[in-house]
Amino acid sequence: MGSMTGRDIVAISDFNRAELDLILETALRCELGASKRHFSHLLQGSILAAVFLEPSTRTRLSFESAMQRLGGGVISVAEALSSSLVKGESLSDMIRVIEQYADVITLRSPEKGAALVAADVASIPIINGGDGTHEHPTQALLDLYTIKKERGRLDGLTVAMVGDLKNGRTVHSLIQALLPYKPTILPVAPEELALPEEWVRRASEANVHVEHPASFDDALAHADVIYMTRVQRERLSSGVDYATLQYSYRLDRAAIERTRCTASIMHPLPRLTELAEDVDVLPTAAYIRQAGNGIWVRQALLGLVLGGF
Ligand code: NCD
Repeated sequence: MGSMTGRDIVAISDFNRAELDLILETALRCELGASKRHFSHLLQGSILAAVFLEPSTRTRLSFESAMQRLGGGVISVAEALSSSLVKGESLSDMIRVIEQYADVITLRSPEKGAALVAADVASIPIINGGDGTHEHPTQALLDLYTIKKERGRLDGLTVAMVGDLKNGRTVHSLIQALLPYKPTILPVAPEELALPEEWVRRASEANVHVEHPASFDDALAHADVIYMTRVQRERLSSGVDYATLQYSYRLDRAAIERTRCTASIMHPLPRLTELAEDVDVLPTAAYIRQAGNGIWVRQALLGLVLGGF
């Protein structure tokens, strides 16, 4: 049994660099093996419970597809309203019951810390599919995988993070995931949506520079990767005006040409006004490939925690 067998994946800080590299290498093996169908019976007889208490397209469907492509089965809760939480059941009770029916659970919840609560009560692996504004570790892993593929390396890159850095859990997990590779982080956000102090502190404790660029254009001109994010409308504090904030930073083709930006353009999706559709045709537009990479990384994670690899 490997060191990942039976592990929970709650936060990206659960992994050291060697483990991150192992996940990325395993994901690459999945991608290369896919055409040859090497792995298609690996998890036969295992069941994934995909419990999604918040909307999801990519995360839930790519987990389900990953499990099925490895020969496993899937049961799912696709929205909170279809579960017994609406009857007042606690998350802990729900998880303790679901683990009777499955071998691994991936959980998305609007509550910060929900994955940790689930991991504490469950004896099977819990994979955090996003817990409120906190973390989204499997997205960060597919982001790392994408960056490595698009840029050819992970070490020493300059990564601009743009948009809602306060509420965007993908940003929090990606910053943490990049720390072992010593990036320079360029945060670009309106004041109301600035990167919380906790994540700046974690970066500085790892001797990673968080440098505020002079402008959005300055970030575009200097970054190797631009990580765009939407304003998380459903998570804004009261009094914060979405209508104005959504137009704070918009990446379009004109901005890319004006700044001679050669960075890989990434976005966890869904994209709204912050990323213009005229960017889609550029070879550096990586966001659809990024979403596709979710399959390989989630296959790797399921195979590793269930002891299949
Ligand atoms: C993200 C999420 O759920 O945090 N979506 C995703 O999983 N790709 C980003 C978002 O909702 O903005």
